[in-house]
Amino acid sequence: MKVEFYKHNVGQQDIDNVVEVLNSLFLTTGEVVSEFEYKFSRYLDCRYTVGVTSCTAALHLSLLACGIGPGDEVITTPMTFIASANSVIHAGATPVFVDVEPETANINVDLIEGAITAKTKAILPVHLYGQMCDMKKIRAIADRYHLIIIEDAAHAIEASRDGIRPAQLGDAACFSFYATKNITSGEGGAVSTNNEEIAEKLKKLRLHGMSKGAADRYSKRYEHWDMEMLGWKYNMSNIQAALLLSQLGRIEQNWQRREQICEMYEEAFEEDSVVTCLKVLPNSKSARHLFTILVPPKRRDSIMGQFQESGIGVAVNFQAIHLLTFYRQTFGYERGMYPIAEKIGDSTITLPLYPKLSNEEVQYVIKVVKEVTTS
Ligand SMILES: Cc1ncc(COP(=O)(O)O)c(C=O)c1O
Repeated sequence: MKVEFYKHNVGQQDIDNVVEVLNSLFLTTGEVVSEFEYKFSRYLDCRYTVGVTSCTAALHLSLLACGIGPGDEVITTPMTFIASANSVIHAGATPVFVDVEPETANINVDLIEGAITAKTKAILPVHLYGQMCDMKKIRAIADRYHLIIIEDAAHAIEASRDGIRPAQLGDAACFSFYATKNITSGEGGAVSTNNEEIAEKLKKLRLHGMSKGAADRYSKRYEHWDMEMLGWKYNMSNIQAALLLSQLGRIEQNWQRREQICEMYEEAFEEDSVVTCLKVLPNSKSARHLFTILVPPKRRDSIMGQFQESGIGVAVNFQAIHLLTFYRQTFGYERGMYPIAEKIGDSTITLPLYPKLSNEEVQYVIKVVKEVTTS
C-alpha cells in the first residue's frame, strides 16, 4: 500500500469557483478577496482580515505594521518552521528564542519573562501543529511589559484554547494557505486583527504603500493614487480567494475528519513503549494540522527510512531552528541552548493527516509504525 504524506482536498466546486473568476474581468485583488476577508473574519470572530501571498508575508507585514524594526528584539520559539523567525529578520529586528514545553512543543510561557530585555518589542508565539499557546498568559506578560503580540497561526485556523481563538488576544494573527495547509490556495496567507489601524496599514503595506488598490482605481472613474509608505507586493489575488472561499465553507467538516484520524493514532500509540505523542490539553481544541510522533533520536532517521520503504510519506516538522547553519553562524547558537526543542527536533516524525485518508490507510500507517519501531 502507498499512503501519500498529503493529498489536498480541492474539489469540483472549488475548481468551478476559480473558473468563474478566470472568466471574469478582475483577476487580482478585488471583490472576491474582500468577500474571503469578510468571511474569514466572521469565522474567526474577529474584525478584520487582510489577504496576502503567504504566511511569511503576513508575519513580515504584521511586524512592520506594528512598528517593529532595526534594534528591536522579538521573542519566539526555535521549534517552528523557519518562516516564523526569518520574518523577524526580514523586518530588520532580531529573533530571541525561548525553549518549548515537552508535552506540547509550544513556547514555554514561564520562560518568556526571563528573555525580555530593554530591546524587546514583541512576542511571536507559534500555535504549533494546530494547538494554541497559552494566549491568556502571553497577553498578561505583554501588557505588563508593553509588548506587541504577533501570533503565527499558520497551523491553527480552527483552534481555540480557554475559549480564545487566534487574533482575539494577539495584536495580529498570521495564517498560511500553503499547499499542505488546512485550507489552501497553493500559496497564500492572511493577517487577522481586531485593530483597525493595523488592518488599514496592512492593506497599504501589501501593495507598495499605495493609497488605492487596483479595484478602487478602476471601478468607476480613474482615481489618482499616492504612495504613502514603502510597502511590498504581497496582495492576494481573486483567483486565490475563490479557491479559499469554498473550502472555508467545509472547514469544520474537514477538521472533524482530521480529529477522528488523530484520535485513531493517539489510541494506537497510547501504551506504546517506543512511540510518544504530544498532548492536546483538555481546555484546547487543536486545529489538527500536523500529527507528529516522537521516537528515540538515535533511531529517528532509520525509522523514517523504513516508513518510506513501506510506502508511507513522512516529514520532519521541525528541526530546531537555532541549530540550522544560518542561525548558528549569524547568532552564535550552539547545541544545548534550547534542549527541549533540540530533543523534539531530533525525535519527531510527522505522519500522514488529511481528510481524504481512509480508515484502512490509517490502520496501515499504525501497523507499520508498530512493526518498525518494535523491530
Ligand atoms: C509555523 C509556520 N509558520 C509560517 C509558515 C509559512 O507559511 P507560508 O509558506 O505561507 O509562508 C509555515 C509554513 O509551513 C509554518 O509551518
